[in-house]
Amino acid sequence: MTLGIETSCDETSVSLADKGMVLSNIVSSSVHLHSAYGGVIPEIASRYHSEYIFSIFSQALKRASKNAEDIELVAVTKGPGLPGSLLVGMAFAKAISYSLDVPIVGVDHVHAHLVSGFIGGLDPTPVRMRFPFLGLAVSGGHTSIYYCKSIDDFELIGRTKDDAAGEAFDKVAKVLELGYPGGPVIEKKAAEWAGSAGIEFPRALLDKTRALDFSFSGVKTAVLYYWQKSGKKEEDVTRICSAFQESVADTVVRKVKRALKTTKAKMLAAGGGVLNNGLLRERLSLLAEASGVEIFLAEKEYCADNAAMVAILGELLYNIGCKDDLFLKIAP
Ligand code: KG4
Ligand code: ZN
Repeated sequence: MTLGIETSCDETSVSLADKGMVLSNIVSSSVHLHSAYGGVIPEIASRYHSEYIFSIFSQALKRASKNAEDIELVAVTKGPGLPGSLLVGMAFAKAISYSLDVPIVGVDHVHAHLVSGFIGGLDPTPVRMRFPFLGLAVSGGHTSIYYCKSIDDFELIGRTKDDAAGEAFDKVAKVLELGYPGGPVIEKKAAEWAGSAGIEFPRALLDKTRALDFSFSGVKTAVLYYWQKSGKKEEDVTRICSAFQESVADTVVRKVKRALKTTKAKMLAAGGGVLNNGLLRERLSLLAEASGVEIFLAEKEYCADNAAMVAILGELLYNIGCKDDLFLKIAP
């Protein structure tokens, strides 16, 4: 049984998993403490982690009806993320590893998001995952496409050159004074606009036929200028949200389509907080169907940051011989 620990940003999460199946996954977010600032305050996030990690660990054991002595492996997010936040999870993971005398393995947070698409369902993870597959991570910190050749060989083939997709959602929400985090509220406002928005926000970097990189700073600025010139009425908000969401979903899907063509991958897996977005999920599913590609979208429970994806990936890495020790360092 693997213990997974995730503290890279503002979610404190602990999970227990066994042979690809999640036994428990407890997530506690400090997002309510950051909303007043319009973004995550690192110091507040790390203090929250250190205050709550032990009780979340206890809850994870209880939910799975297990004891600490049942833990055979510790998997922990080593990065990328906020240094202070990562340090809390890492210190906790090392303490458990040392006191129970069980191995520890460090996991890349973005790789874990890619694996999250395979969690759940009737079959345990290792059965459903086949290599190579194309992996998409769309979160507040990352918008990346990977060509995944084996469990320890994920090749980064496309990434954002500036803002991540989720970051763009958050910044646009800030401009429109909709609060933080922006994704859920923008999706809600967009749903209130019926029909075509009649605004064509930019879709960046689509011209170069081979480019798989993203850029979301342009669409963010376009929204700002449009908003400043608008009447700033409620109908402007819903119309902008609809057009902005359309622009992001369209850009992501077009890049994934290009990546599928380039790599000839027959399987697509995706995860990350932005994958909560209904329009993006629908468009990716349609693309997969049209391309004859098998698709694994993270279930809603595993879209945002969670320790289950860390436990699952850590277990798979350990099974092929990956192992760290108490000198493991964070990689912020
Ligand atoms: O994966 P995640 O929880 O944290 C990171 O690793 O970054 O992703 C958080 C991001 C935020 O930017 C948030 O606005 C976005 O996911 N998000 C959404 C939705 N729900 C959350 N973006 C678009 N539509 C949503 N429904
Ligand atoms: Zn994340």
